[in-house]
Amino acid sequence: MPGTCVVGLQWGDEAKGKIVDLLGDQFDYVVRYNGGANAGHTVVANGKTFKLSLLPTGVIRPNVFSVIGNGVVVYPPRFLEEVDQLAKGGVDVSGSLVMSDHAHVIFPYHMEEERLLENGGEGKIGTTGRGIGPCYQDKVGRRFGIRVGELLRPDHLRERLRFVVPYKNRLMQAFASGEIETLKIFEPWALADEYLRYAERIKPFVKDTSKLLLDALAAGKRLVFEAAQGSLLDVDHGTYPYVTSSSSLPSGIWSGSGVPAKFLTRIIGVVKAYTTRVGQGPFPTELNDGPEGTGERIRRVGREYGTVTGRPRRVGWFDAVAVRYTAALSGADVITVMLLDVLSGLPELKICTAYDLNGDRRTHFPSDAYQLERCKPVYETLPGWKEDITTKRKLAELPTAARRYIDRISELVGLKVSVVSVGPDREQTILV
Ligand code: GDP
Ligand code: IMO
Ligand code: MG
Repeated sequence: MPGTCVVGLQWGDEAKGKIVDLLGDQFDYVVRYNGGANAGHTVVANGKTFKLSLLPTGVIRPNVFSVIGNGVVVYPPRFLEEVDQLAKGGVDVSGSLVMSDHAHVIFPYHMEEERLLENGGEGKIGTTGRGIGPCYQDKVGRRFGIRVGELLRPDHLRERLRFVVPYKNRLMQAFASGEIETLKIFEPWALADEYLRYAERIKPFVKDTSKLLLDALAAGKRLVFEAAQGSLLDVDHGTYPYVTSSSSLPSGIWSGSGVPAKFLTRIIGVVKAYTTRVGQGPFPTELNDGPEGTGERIRRVGREYGTVTGRPRRVGWFDAVAVRYTAALSGADVITVMLLDVLSGLPELKICTAYDLNGDRRTHFPSDAYQLERCKPVYETLPGWKEDITTKRKLAELPTAARRYIDRISELVGLKVSVVSVGPDREQTILV
């Protein structure tokens, strides 16, 4: 088993972090290959809660080496903050965490650019505000992108910022139109000084990580790739334009870490027992049934508020059409069904099995946002269960209705269920 990928099959926050943590003992390396601090993973282990955005969740496991691959976009202050937070919690990552010299760097002007575009009225995506999109834009555009390795060469960095920052200031002035008073103007020398200070501290972590990973594979080490975001947020195959700016599907691994696909031998698709989404964009099974409704109840019980932004997550029924699509695209071998306990007490549960698009029945997911917005869900209704299931550790101990619900999800998605999660803690897990 040289390479395993843990990937979310919905719109993110499927509890991927918990699955990576559970696999921790079976792996030598844990690798992030996409996104940045827009991700938010909460892991509860032995009663302790760890919240990570930029670092892979695997860092909390002893004897696991953690890698931030070249496909990740890094905000250095956030990186240092997470390293310091872990140190306070007794987790020393100084010898077991590395970051690619090829990863791109997020600067404050990326966040400012994003703020101006998101607040500009039209065209809002509902992003996390972490500068992710503008940084990836600069990476692909080539002229303004700055990589982690460049932070380590002071004269070069000053020269780069002297060229980049005036362009950015002009660009933001153009975006700002009515907002001139609050527009931040950046000063290249000050930014260079600030980032050179970060560079001093991040220097020991910076490596050629693709070489490191290929060497590790050659030495027989086992790797787990931790996808950030969810497959429906993938820039190519997700609900564009309401997506993130990276390839969150396992297809991002080769480019985002340098590890060829032939080393991927197992793909674990993670789903919630229902669906959530943060930010704008179509969501056919969304529950908009008011403050006393099922949607609000699931949000409250599941604590469905974003880890990064604190925004209430939009909540809806399980969408088997969407998950069948992402399971196929991601090449998932199995699925893990998370947060099943949140549904306890609901009299009945719905699963979307098809869409109605202008009178046509569709069973294939239209990943185009325009069509998806026009899709009405076709539901199948299953009985709910009353019992608290958070203490169950075996499938056979679950109420019949809960087992039926899991079986039906498995049948509709076309994959076996390997894990059922009944609570946030590492222990609250049913291995099937
Ligand atoms: P990720 O981004 O995919 O890693 O997921 P998040 O960490 O953003 O969101 C998942 C949340 O659900 C976290 O707060 C977890 O602690 C919590 N969680 C994970 N598994 C379960 C579960 O089975 N039941 C409940 N109630 N919470 C869970
Ligand atoms: P994890 O790894 C849920 C969403 C944002 C927004 C869109 C684009 O915790 O599952 P961005 O800041 O990436 O440009 O925002 O993507 N988004 C996430 N939603 N979980 C995430 O990560 C997300 N990362 C980005 O809400 O709709
Ligand atoms: Mg999350």
